[in-house]
Amino acid sequence: MSPGPVERFVPAPVYGRTLQGLSLNLVVQDVLRSAAFLEGALSLRVLFQDAGFAAIAGAGARIMLHADSTYGRMPALHRLASGAPRGGGVEIRLLGIDPDRAAERAPAYGGAVLLAPRDFAHGWREAHLADPDGYLYAVGLPIGDPAGVPAGVRLRPLRPEDAETVLAVIDDWWGREIRSRLPRLFFEHFATTSFAAEDELTGELLGFLCGLASPSQPEESYIHFAGVAPKARRRGVARAMYRAFFDAVRAQGCTAVSCITSPINLDSIDFHRRMGFTLVAGNAVDGGIPVHRGREGPGTVHVVMRCELWP
Ligand SMILES: CC(C)(COP(=O)(O)OP(=O)(O)OC[C@H]1O[C@@H](n2cnc3c(N)ncnc32)[C@H](O)[C@@H]1OP(=O)(O)O)[C@@H](O)C(=O)NCCC(=O)NCCS
Repeated sequence: MSPGPVERFVPAPVYGRTLQGLSLNLVVQDVLRSAAFLEGALSLRVLFQDAGFAAIAGAGARIMLHADSTYGRMPALHRLASGAPRGGGVEIRLLGIDPDRAAERAPAYGGAVLLAPRDFAHGWREAHLADPDGYLYAVGLPIGDPAGVPAGVRLRPLRPEDAETVLAVIDDWWGREIRSRLPRLFFEHFATTSFAAEDELTGELLGFLCGLASPSQPEESYIHFAGVAPKARRRGVARAMYRAFFDAVRAQGCTAVSCITSPINLDSIDFHRRMGFTLVAGNAVDGGIPVHRGREGPGTVHVVMRCELWP
C-alpha cells in the first residue's frame, strides 16, 4: 500500500467536524501497517494515510490512526512505552464484517486470531482479532445473514436516475463496448429486483444489478447485467447484490435464476460458478465450455448459467 491520500481528502478541521457520535483514535507504532490491516483484513476504507495519520471508515465506524510521534505531548504517552499489547480491556466491536473472511485474512496483515469465528448467544457470528499493535477487534455478522454487505457499502433499489451514472462507466467496467446492450428500461421498470451498491459515506455508485422475476414463468428469474467498479472488486459487493436478488425473487415464488454471458468473459463464468451457478449444456462445446450457438441470432455464441434457489 502506498502512503498518501487515497482520494482527495478534506482539511483536518473540516474532517474533524464530520465525526459525529463515537469515533476511535488509536495510537499505533506503524500507521501504514495498521491501515493495511484494517483495509486488507476487515475491508474498511482508507480515506487518507501518511506516516503520521490515517482516516478509516466503514461498518458505521470512523477510526483515526495516529503514530506515537504525534502523541508526544499527550499525558497518556508513558502508557505506550512498555511495548505491551495495546488496548487491553477495550473491544472495538464492528457489526457488518464477515468474521470468517476477516479471520482468514488477518494473519497476512500482521494480525492474530484471538478467537476463531463462532456463533454467540447475543446474535452475532463473531471473531476476535488483534491488529499488529494488539488492539482487539470483535467483528461479526448477524447470525443467519451470510450475505453480509461489505463494510462501507450500502445496498438500495436501483433508480431511474442511476441510468446516467451506470451508462457513463459501464464500458470502462467491462473493458469493452457493452453500453448498447443495457436499455434504460431496466432502471425504470424492475426496481424491486434490481439493486445499486453505493459507498455509504459518499454515495458513489460501486455496483449495480439489473434483474427480473419472469412474468410468464413464475418460478424463473433472470439477471440481465451485474457489474462492480474495478476499485471495489473482490470485496463481496457482487455477492451481496446477488444474495439480495435471490431473496427478492424467492419472496416472489421463484425457484431458479439464470443468466447468459459471452464465452470470452471468463471472469464472469468463474464468478458465477463461485456463486453456485452451473453451465447449461448447449449445442456446442468451445474450449471445454458448453456454448449456445445462434441463441441470440445468426453468428452469436453464448454461455447459459443457472442456479437453483433453495428456500
Ligand atoms: C464479475 C464481477 C461482477 C464480480 O464482482 P466482485 O464484487 O468482485 O465479486 P465478489 O467480491 O462478490 O466475489 C464473489 C465470489 O466470486 C469470486 N470472484 C469474483 N471475481 C472473480 C474472478 N474474476 N475470477 C474468479 N472468481 C471471482 C470471489 O473470489 C468470490 O468467491 P469467494 O467468496 O468464494 O472467495 C466483477 O468482476 C465485474 O463487474 N466484472 C465486469 C462485469 C462482468 O463481467 N459482469 C458479470 C456478468 S453481467
